[in-house]
Amino acid sequence: MWLPCRCTLRAASFTPGFFSSPCLNVLRRKSSWNSAAFMPEAAAFQGVSGRDELRDFSVSDSDRFWAAVARQRLNWIRPFHRVQDCDLSRGRIEWFEGGKLNVSVNCLDRHVHTCPERVALIWERDERGSEVRYTYRELLEMTCRVGNLLRRHGVKKGDCVTIYMPTCPLAVASMLACARIGAAHNVVFAGFSAEALAERIRDAESSTVITVNQGVRGGKVTELKKTVDAAVQSCPNVRQVFVAMRTDNPVAMTARDIAMDEEMLKEDVVCEPEAMGSEDVLFLLYTSGSTGKPKGLVHTQAGYLLYAALTHRYVFSYHDGDVFGCVADIGWITGHSYAVYGPLANGGTTVLFESTPIYPDPGRYWDMVERLKINQFYGAPTAIRLLIKYGDQWVKKYDRSTLKTLGSVGEPINTEAWEWYYRVVGEGRCPVVDTWWQTETGGICIAPKPSEPDAEIVPGMAMRPFFGIKPVLMDTEGNVLTSNNISGALCMAQPWPGMARTIHNNHQRFIETYCQPYPGYFFTGDGAHRSQEGYYQITGRLDDVINVSGHRIGTAEIEDVVNQCPAVAESAVIGYSHSIKGQGVYAFVVLKKDVNIQEADLSKQLSNLVSGKIAKYACPDFIQFVTRLPKTRSGKIMRRVLRKVVECDLDGLGDLSTLDDPAAVQEIIQGHKKLSSK
Ligand code: WTA
Repeated sequence: MWLPCRCTLRAASFTPGFFSSPCLNVLRRKSSWNSAAFMPEAAAFQGVSGRDELRDFSVSDSDRFWAAVARQRLNWIRPFHRVQDCDLSRGRIEWFEGGKLNVSVNCLDRHVHTCPERVALIWERDERGSEVRYTYRELLEMTCRVGNLLRRHGVKKGDCVTIYMPTCPLAVASMLACARIGAAHNVVFAGFSAEALAERIRDAESSTVITVNQGVRGGKVTELKKTVDAAVQSCPNVRQVFVAMRTDNPVAMTARDIAMDEEMLKEDVVCEPEAMGSEDVLFLLYTSGSTGKPKGLVHTQAGYLLYAALTHRYVFSYHDGDVFGCVADIGWITGHSYAVYGPLANGGTTVLFESTPIYPDPGRYWDMVERLKINQFYGAPTAIRLLIKYGDQWVKKYDRSTLKTLGSVGEPINTEAWEWYYRVVGEGRCPVVDTWWQTETGGICIAPKPSEPDAEIVPGMAMRPFFGIKPVLMDTEGNVLTSNNISGALCMAQPWPGMARTIHNNHQRFIETYCQPYPGYFFTGDGAHRSQEGYYQITGRLDDVINVSGHRIGTAEIEDVVNQCPAVAESAVIGYSHSIKGQGVYAFVVLKKDVNIQEADLSKQLSNLVSGKIAKYACPDFIQFVTRLPKTRSGKIMRRVLRKVVECDLDGLGDLSTLDDPAAVQEIIQGHKKLSSK
């Protein structure tokens, strides 16, 4: 399987120095804050004498900020002539008009030029202790070979290639190869069913698919090629499937299939990059909306890359030479922005994690941190909560002294998980950054960092908008809420380069979902609270907000309290229709291993906790103890499924194939029957 080939790279086709430094009028700051060391561009921004001021400047003088950053941090083939041309009310979002660049050159060639032997990728394979390192030179070679292979098989600028692969270097090379030759990629998480994959291939109008014979995760083999075979049955446009070998087991090949490893070796290690317009499509990524049909969100070249790179560097305080460990799968936006594009654009060393947090045992993450000397670790609260269940000894067994920053993403991180992450994993040394963002936003929008070095971090809060981000909270009538200590619908008042441009083939849906609810603003679909101090806390999807006797309450808020009970591993709270109160509260609770308390006693304890911490109205009417919650494979709790169970609408459960463990639902249905018949 594709271990890096050690042959020498021939003169690559990048053009060194085709970008020249911006002519910034450098002003010396008197402040003790060294703006130029923190962000070279900042030295030219008049009156900026601190990080908070830099953030203000990036919003109030957004065009100047982004122009300077784009010139400084991206290599342009042709400079842009206009910073942005956006009209949020119409869903028109354009950045860096007139500019031409190539994303793969920005992620590879320019680093090969300066430090070819720097490690770009560390592939933490499922088999513990068998990691493989790829230098920038090797990754460029692999990318060029894939680019040439795709070109030779007719893939051209403007096409869309679907990638259905585990997290591995060839998947990254495939993404970058698409970028190199000007094709868009559509990475589909390799845990999706054939049907879900087929729907995405068809919607993306892909005629080329890249996959592997088999995947390996948590010691289990998955038949990815067979899934692709089943999917393409209903995709008449697919004319070729490239199949690489992740395991040694041969798979049946059809006339449509191409043995990728062998064919790649025949290709040249130099591949001419396409000059792409800033607003050409870089990738589609499907994500769920409130309706059943997944949306193919579209991200474009320059703005996306710039935003991923800038957030990667500043939110995590990434420094040259650090090893960045984002454990997300490349099938999700987190994998795109923080395992691939952000770190590579910054010339960083990034970990590709193929396994699970508990394989072969619950010490996997921390063993990896020790072995790979990871400096920034970026994971999900769901995994943290799972690991809490197994106890601290699995963490303490390993040396974590290399860690500098701990990141969290994907859902609100409850206080207990935050504290454990901070105290046990980070030994109270590493800032925990709770990062809020979405597939739609392209990169992190709200996070505790960057901030002044001694600024506080409040547990479980995303807190501060990133450079160029202007969040606002709206009331139900669409008025901007200006005071603090207030909750509302989270919108963005200003465009930023990383935001999605449209939904593939459905711009109208993009406008209706994001632009029309609050005209002139980008609506995130989330609710948030702004504290007295002006910090943002995400309260959850607005559809997770419930109304009990006229009181609005975020289900995440109740979960946070329930999770503080020492016996509780995690919980999911939903609203259900209640004849008197409008909505009642129903809590699903997973207990930690070896908890020995009567359920009735524990229910009482939890109710007291909730009424004590929030209010009596927030107390769950029902508490159902379950051994696991239904989750997507990216670890998000499927509250939609829980709601359907509680509403006894089993026909409405819909497609459960995207769940990590569909059997969890059966247990929940049985438990609910028992509880409701009491
Ligand atoms: C939720 C993942 C609270 C939120 C990057 C958002 C969060 C959705 C956080 C996007 C966080 C993500 N705190 N909630 N730090 N991060 N979310 O598109 O509801 O998979 O709208 O992107 O996850 O999920 P997506």
